[in-house]
Amino acid sequence: MTTVTIIGAGNMARGIGTRWVGEVEQLQILAPTAEHATSLADELGGAATAGSADDPIGGAVVVLATPYEGAVDFVEKRGRDLTGKIVVDITNPIDWASFDRLVTPPDSSAAREIAARLPGDVAVVKAFNTTFAATLVNGAVSGQPLDVLVASDDEAAKQQVTTLVAAAGMRAIDAGPLRRAQQLEHLGFLHMALQDKLGSGFASAVKIVTP
Ligand SMILES: NC(=O)c1ccc[n+]([C@@H]2O[C@H](COP(=O)([O-])OP(=O)(O)OC[C@H]3O[C@@H](n4cnc5c(N)ncnc54)[C@H](OP(=O)(O)O)[C@@H]3O)[C@@H](O)[C@H]2O)c1
Repeated sequence: MTTVTIIGAGNMARGIGTRWVGEVEQLQILAPTAEHATSLADELGGAATAGSADDPIGGAVVVLATPYEGAVDFVEKRGRDLTGKIVVDITNPIDWASFDRLVTPPDSSAAREIAARLPGDVAVVKAFNTTFAATLVNGAVSGQPLDVLVASDDEAAKQQVTTLVAAAGMRAIDAGPLRRAQQLEHLGFLHMALQDKLGSGFASAVKIVTP
């Protein structure tokens, strides 16, 4: 069993927290508004604890469940406290003003920008950016377990996140090295942009069907 810290106490923290709270030794929720963290930890129960975003980071695995800009801000402030940990970037770096592009440089990704701001011994894993928060609360859509696409340059870190994803009843798919985060972020954006056309209200899932 491992320990997990989730930075942020919003929709994705609820989704991932719901899936993982029964699978980990400790699930620490940290958010700038400590009451949001407390309220989510109370809702999740079990191994969940709460604190502010300035508190000591207890988890060996740290999920950045904040807007992209907040994740950059967090790693710039707390990067040294993440030494030796696995950082899971779940962000989709959407340009909300236009909803037409990503804010990251065309040859980069949120994961790459976040990794560039962290000490070299932090393992960055991209995951969960293509799964909507509400579907994570259920863990499945139309009876089918969620696919969670996982990318990293650190195979041991990728395996650890994969094990946690599988323990929580979802299917982890190895999406390759961290540079695949660029494609994953475009896929996450496309899935969001399709919601209007599908009328699916952010309750759909990206699923790879294999024979
Ligand atoms: N929602 C989805 O379905 C979905 C799906 C895939 C990926 N994502 C990605 O997941 C991330 C989180 O989305 P969400 O829907 O959970 O957002 P959300 O509900 O708005 O929650 C954001 C959380 O981030 C915290 N936060 C903001 N700035 C911060 C900072 N500088 N340092 C630490 N914490 C900070 C907020 O703190 P306070 O509570 O104090 O305000 C809040 O708890 C986004 O990057 C999004 O692109 C979302």
